[in-house]
Amino acid sequence: MALIGIMDSGVGGLSVFREILRVLPKERYIYFADNAHCPYGEKTPGYIQDRLRSITNHFLWRGASAMVLACNTATAAAIETLRSEYSIPFVGMEPAVKPAALGTETGVIGVLATAGTLKGSKYLNTKGRFADDVRIEERVGEGFVELVESGRLCGPEAEKTVRKSLLPLLEAGADRIVLGCTHYPFLLGTLQKVAAEEGYASVRFIDPAPAVARRLVGVLKEHGIALADDRPGIEFLASGQPEDKLFQQFIEG
Ligand code: DGL
Repeated sequence: MALIGIMDSGVGGLSVFREILRVLPKERYIYFADNAHCPYGEKTPGYIQDRLRSITNHFLWRGASAMVLACNTATAAAIETLRSEYSIPFVGMEPAVKPAALGTETGVIGVLATAGTLKGSKYLNTKGRFADDVRIEERVGEGFVELVESGRLCGPEAEKTVRKSLLPLLEAGADRIVLGCTHYPFLLGTLQKVAAEEGYASVRFIDPAPAVARRLVGVLKEHGIALADDRPGIEFLASGQPEDKLFQQFIEG
């Protein structure tokens, strides 16, 4: 019996969860949205580590045998600490710099992420590995998480917010843009619309979620964690008001 705990600061991790369900549709899952403490982007690593200990303890109490940090910021701040303190396997987010670097034709890639992710050693190490091959331009997606948490995924306000962070990357020549925060894929339609309006319709946005889902399959196998539970199911939990429309859309399929 495998129960997998998935967490994010809010609804963003659903962009990872939907990919997990594509490859592992028959497990038991608990998805925890820590929306009473969202956004994580500007919080200190110590604060995020404490939140993650509480969430991990809850998952363990419920019998989880593996956990997914469907949040780049939480991965950057806490995954090493969790691995040193707990014995279950943890799967985290990887900034998709490699596929972006391999695919770019202009030699410039853009990364959109939270401040916490961009400061984290995981991202800085990854960036260092590709620094000789490509130029990397970064921007915090200012206001993106708030848009997604409140379900404002498109329309003039979303476009204005998205344009502010996206345009400098496009103007710098980026033809591949890494979505380094799990909330951002929900803004993909708006990102593509704004890019096209600005004359950069061919830019590609890269979401690492499918790779993370495949990694989870590998980790479960490595740890001998049984796949295909005899009682598959999904439970959603939230530390704040679970009012977001995305949950509803997710549940309705
Ligand atoms: N979804 C998160 C991430 O991937 C966190 C966003 C936030 O809470 O600031 O980074």
